[in-house]
Amino acid sequence: MISNVSEISFLEKADGRGKLIALESSLNIPFDIKRVYYLYDSNVDGARGFHAHIKLRQVLLCVSGSCKVHLESSAGVVVHELNSPSHGLLVEGVVWREMKNFSKDCVLLVLASELYDEQDYIHDHDQFKNILFS
Ligand code: TYD
Repeated sequence: MISNVSEISFLEKADGRGKLIALESSLNIPFDIKRVYYLYDSNVDGARGFHAHIKLRQVLLCVSGSCKVHLESSAGVVVHELNSPSHGLLVEGVVWREMKNFSKDCVLLVLASELYDEQDYIHDHDQFKNILFS
């Protein structure tokens, strides 16, 4: 069962006008991007996620503001702070995710390898553990 989390960085194109980052399928994003969504106006005391996926691959990054991402995989639990448009997380396969500590200006961008598919979700933490270690 694939379960992998890694940090991913993006080249900034900076000049006197500011900065620009381009995200491209199968180049600096290691999969074909089929879906893009973003979380914004998040409740600063709130938390989202609380699920894993079976086969989805995602890149998460904050294009504005910051948040914390708790990720549980076969390697254990890690907490990452996302606070830069040029640094993100690559999350692949069966990883339990919880997003918390959203700043008021947080815009969490998610690039996904698949279209939205409720069948790919695992919402039960015990089931997640069973699948992870089966
Ligand atoms: P939800 O899965 O609860 O978000 P999170 O895991 O970040 O807490 O999604 C909220 C709603 O948006 C829910 O009705 C499903 C819908 N949704 C889509 O329609 N398409 C998508 O790509 C995603 C991620 C969610």
